[in-house]
Amino acid sequence: MTFMTIDMEKCNKDGICVAECPMKIIQMKDEAPVPVAGAETLCIRCGHCVAVCPTAALSLDTLTPSECLPVNKELLLDPKQAEHFLRYRRSIRTYKEKAVDRETLAELIRIASHAPSGHNSQPVSWQVIYERDEVKRLSGMVIDWMKYVIKEQPKVAALLHLDMVVAGWTFGLDTVSRDAPHLILTNGHKTNIMAKPACIIAMTYLELAIPSFGLGGCWNGFFNAAAMTWPPLKEALGLTANNMENHGAMMVGFPKFKYHRMPPRNTPAITWA
Ligand SMILES: Cc1cc2nc3c(=O)[nH]c(=O)nc-3n(C[C@H](O)[C@H](O)[C@H](O)COP(=O)(O)O)c2cc1C
Repeated sequence: MTFMTIDMEKCNKDGICVAECPMKIIQMKDEAPVPVAGAETLCIRCGHCVAVCPTAALSLDTLTPSECLPVNKELLLDPKQAEHFLRYRRSIRTYKEKAVDRETLAELIRIASHAPSGHNSQPVSWQVIYERDEVKRLSGMVIDWMKYVIKEQPKVAALLHLDMVVAGWTFGLDTVSRDAPHLILTNGHKTNIMAKPACIIAMTYLELAIPSFGLGGCWNGFFNAAAMTWPPLKEALGLTANNMENHGAMMVGFPKFKYHRMPPRNTPAITWA
């Protein structure tokens, strides 16, 4: 199959694919769209040309119109629904004992993987710490990192109240991973400069999708900080061996309690130029 196929029976020559291609690798020639020379190597496979064509005339060797999810206008949110959807998400810190099944977590990750990434590079590597005992063991390594920071960087430790977290841990209070049954991590290759923002955005997508599955989530900033810097944890996660870095950690589980209200946040600081 050639890189780009345009069905001339269907093409209405409106030039929308030319206008929308982010790489500008489609041009109008004799009033019909055609890929420019070298288009195949420049294409970032974002699928915009396939997705935007009103007559489904354009296919790529890697993507046909029928492989795309059709836009369902009934599922689009109006501004009120968008605000409700975004404000409904809460950081959940009290979980039921019950485990979430692997299929549900995989489905969540699949949905979150539609997050944008620089150059459509999709550099996110997902890591699920599924077993509760393993979450506990790795959280214990975060505590070891905290003890090190308390000793070596007391100002940082004081700012983050690490002494309280460590003290709580010694009598069974887990304020690292909040006794969540699972942790989901987003990792990226060390040499990939697009990995960090992509991982953070993908994790944000995951967090936004979590409540629709009846689940709760919370960013685990302590885990992420330790996974970025503490060699024993980096090794335990297999990051060192694979030249990877952690750029996000999320607790996931069934929430024990329901929230009834959505608190306000500060008025945004905006400057207009
Ligand atoms: C990058 C990041 C790291 C966070 N780390 C933690 C954490 O380690 N533990 C925790 O309980 N909450 C953590 N949070 C959650 C914040 O405390 C929470 O987002 C904030 O209080 C606002 O509450 P809301 O998320 O329910 O709107 C983190 C949030 C972000 C964005």
